[in-house]
Amino acid sequence: MSEAGWPINIASENIVYIPKNHQAPTMHHEHEHFLPESLPEDPLQIVAEWLIFAKENATRPNPDAMILATGGPSGMPTSRVVLCKELVSNPGYLVFFTNYLSKKGLDLASNPKASAVFHWDQLRRQIRIEGQVTKSPAAECDEYFATRPWPRQLGAWASHQSEPIASLDHMQKQVEQAAKKLGLDLAALESSGLAPADIPRPKHWGGYRLWISSVELWAEGAGRIHDRGLWTRDLTLLGDNGIETGDWQSTRLQP
Ligand SMILES: Cc1cc2nc3c(=O)[nH]c(=O)nc-3n(C[C@H](O)[C@H](O)[C@H](O)COP(=O)(O)O)c2cc1C
Repeated sequence: MSEAGWPINIASENIVYIPKNHQAPTMHHEHEHFLPESLPEDPLQIVAEWLIFAKENATRPNPDAMILATGGPSGMPTSRVVLCKELVSNPGYLVFFTNYLSKKGLDLASNPKASAVFHWDQLRRQIRIEGQVTKSPAAECDEYFATRPWPRQLGAWASHQSEPIASLDHMQKQVEQAAKKLGLDLAALESSGLAPADIPRPKHWGGYRLWISSVELWAEGAGRIHDRGLWTRDLTLLGDNGIETGDWQSTRLQP
């Protein structure tokens, strides 16, 4: 985790991160129209600004939380909160981390499409995103995993996320068993604080890239005359897990 706390800082010129001395964009809540009169060609700069703005004007512990919806083989949509760890504005994807064998992981294995919503009530903004999901490269997952506090690293080994468990006591036992299997001294770790430990990443835990094919920016206006801009583009899957992005088309929507 970077010192700023969000997002992780993997070297790339396109990654949005928050430098310590970053000046938050000035946006006024009272203003009726948050989006420029003429919608910009690429919405992701505004997405980046809103994410930074939400982080810097945080009114809750996890301003980077998004509701992620997936739909598995049954087609039934299910949603849950995950943390957006990164926005790579060019070529345009979000990154989140999870257990590949969780409910969402299994959904994405059979239907690699997802939608995500950010909502900041006090900031009166919403971002809706849809797109295609691919797994993050292993090296990127390793790099991020190595920055996590040791209880989360160990938890990734111990928890079969989304599977039933008889009780919390059983979960604690699984943590102890995982520590034993990895040759870790749990008592020593517990007295050492929360720093990352030298724990390898389990193969079933890693990142996903949500490649953005649709963005809707929603800004609250006076008298329910909200401002909505919609951008869409085509995504073409390439053989090597890569994606080719088409040009953005934009339109304003009625509230
Ligand atoms: C604020 C918050 C942040 C969360 N962040 C993550 C996350 O980044 N990754 C994750 O796998 N689960 C995260 N969770 C837990 C998920 O919401 C969910 O319970 C879990 O991933 C299992 O979901 P699934 O059974 O649909 O796969 C978070 C929950 C909350 C409330």
